[in-house]
Amino acid sequence: MINDTLLPLINNSALLENLENKLSKEEQLWLSGYLFALSRKSTQTNSSNLTIQSLPDVVILYGTQTGNSNKVARLIEESVSSLGFKCSLIDMNEYQPQKLTQQKLLFIAVSTYGDGEPPASAESLYNFVFSNRCPQLDHLNYSIIALGDRSYPLFCKTGIDFDKQLEKLGAKRICERLDVDVDFENDAKNHIELIKNKLTQNYLKDSTIAIPKNTISSTSRKLIYNRKHPFEAAVIEKIQLNGRGSEKETWHIELALNNSGLNYKPGDSIGIYPVNNPNLVNLVLECTQIDGQTPVEWNNDLLPFYKVLSSQLELSLIDKNFLNYVQKKTCSEVLFSILNNPKQLKSYIYGRDINDVLKEFPSEWTASELTGVLRPIQARMYSIASSLLSTEDELHVLIGAVRYHSNDRYRLGTTSTWLADSIEIGDKVRIFVEENEYFKLPENAETPLIFIGAGTGIAPFRAFAHELEENKKGNSTWLFFGNPHFTTDFLYQTEWQRFIKNKSITKISTAWSRDQEEKIYVQDKLLEHKAELFHWIESGAQIYVCGDKNKMAKDVEATLLEIIVSEGRKSHSEAKNYISNLKILRRYIEDIY
Ligand SMILES: Cc1cc2nc3c(=O)[nH]c(=O)nc-3n(C[C@H](O)[C@H](O)[C@H](O)COP(=O)(O)OP(=O)(O)OC[C@H]3O[C@@H](n4cnc5c(N)ncnc54)[C@H](O)[C@@H]3O)c2cc1C
Ligand SMILES: Cc1cc2nc3c(=O)[nH]c(=O)nc-3n(C[C@H](O)[C@H](O)[C@H](O)COP(=O)(O)O)c2cc1C
Repeated sequence: MINDTLLPLINNSALLENLENKLSKEEQLWLSGYLFALSRKSTQTNSSNLTIQSLPDVVILYGTQTGNSNKVARLIEESVSSLGFKCSLIDMNEYQPQKLTQQKLLFIAVSTYGDGEPPASAESLYNFVFSNRCPQLDHLNYSIIALGDRSYPLFCKTGIDFDKQLEKLGAKRICERLDVDVDFENDAKNHIELIKNKLTQNYLKDSTIAIPKNTISSTSRKLIYNRKHPFEAAVIEKIQLNGRGSEKETWHIELALNNSGLNYKPGDSIGIYPVNNPNLVNLVLECTQIDGQTPVEWNNDLLPFYKVLSSQLELSLIDKNFLNYVQKKTCSEVLFSILNNPKQLKSYIYGRDINDVLKEFPSEWTASELTGVLRPIQARMYSIASSLLSTEDELHVLIGAVRYHSNDRYRLGTTSTWLADSIEIGDKVRIFVEENEYFKLPENAETPLIFIGAGTGIAPFRAFAHELEENKKGNSTWLFFGNPHFTTDFLYQTEWQRFIKNKSITKISTAWSRDQEEKIYVQDKLLEHKAELFHWIESGAQIYVCGDKNKMAKDVEATLLEIIVSEGRKSHSEAKNYISNLKILRRYIEDIY
């Protein structure tokens, strides 16, 4: 309800109530800022026309793979335009780098991919600012929000590189760069308030910005599930898809959404919060000699330490902050040298967990010190394997169990083996949906689609196929799928047969790597069909790649390059440009991990 005392001037409470009911909290905040800016504009047109006209135009660039940086850039746009600045929100893909020379105010939101690389859409701007062609940028004021994931050794590297290079070119920071982890929304919002204050100080000295108070009654708030507030989804089906004797272990898991309002589209992923393996928890307790019953503070509560270790703290993925802390605590020169060599750091982290670090660099720990320094347990992402069009109110995922031997110990991937070994039908798992803005089916039914995936990489293609089966758009669709053996590892075989029969999928080419002496992978199948494949690409096909990033995705790209050279009669560098263009146009999109 709108409080009438808040309406001294507006005699239209019905209109306001209507707005309150129809707009989300974010939209209401934006509108209040917009109206504030509008009122500034109209009063300033009369009194000090000069101030508003002399505000420089603002460009907000985002470089993104899955859309998070776009979300952050939109938050910057909302906020900065509420001050009266004219803002242009532009995908780095579509920005002419030479325009930097005319720009006075620039904001960048950019993520990092691969092993510390820029996302494809940021590559050309990134290369430009590091090239000799880029002039001095003394006139430029800028601010950067770098998106990343602390689990990667080169955390937020692209944003850091942009920041350092712009500084080198003479540009001035409006405020210090913000590096954000996967849980970026609150940090980004707080930082944008800082940006707003700086802009106010620098450009709008005489104004005071009224930050609108939230006047929405708590009863009208809808419950929104996200990374901070995950939904507890019940497991309604769990099936091991590989046949007996397979070296793979892949679980199909179905979750009930129970009218939660949780919405998704094929191409999106979900985050799942796991519980740590009890053996790993015990190893940490043994190694630190801390009694598991020791009470520690967690979220304003006192809990036994073993409970916090089990479900609240990350014990598997090692992050650099923790290593830095341990290095300072132990004064270890070995760890110092690892931390200062990105290659060494990457190989140190791979296949080790928190217990290994505690063992290799021993020190005295208390329960509360360790609780304070370990990262909260991280949700693991899984590509959605279903479509709401065919399985209403359900969400399916495909999980490859991670089990391996390293550093003298048999190890279990936290989430995948928790789901495989401990979770049963009826149990609940905490999930949230992570949108992937670009890994989506096109609107156009004429666009041919090429799906390339191995192992669990087939998950989003199953979701796409279900969607295509339901909406009967009739796109020509070609699936390339690889796994070790036809008899045991043809995931969802009967469904694919149905999709072929009802023409939701036009062609399937499979690569069974270990069914013959020489290994055959999806890239070999691409090569086998190179003429036809090139014809599809030339006819405007969209290429989707999903699965292993370290080997499969790289080999697929190298093979496509080879095909474009031979079939397109292009030089190596022309073919490279051809692929870059496909990426820039988002006709070559990846969901790789
Ligand atoms: C966008 C996205 C989508 C994804 N979709 C899927 C999906 O659909 N299905 C799916 O199964 N996975 C998917 N993943 C991967 C998934 O998120 C997890 O990374 C995976 O399940 C492992 O998590 P875990 O908790 O079981 O293992 P963790 O406890 O996270 O352990 C993983 C760590 O173990 C180590 N390790 C793993 N294997 C070895 C080895 N052989 N040798 C040495 N060390 C090793 C590495 O240090 C690795 O970082 C996706 C990832 C992303 C980012
Ligand atoms: C395959 C892959 C590789 C990644 N590599 C890095 C990395 O090297 N450094 C980093 O900080 N984050 C890395 N990330 C995390 C992303 O930067 C992070 O998820 C970010 O929020 C994505 O933002 P975007 O949607 O704007 O692209 C990686 C993510 C994936 C899936």
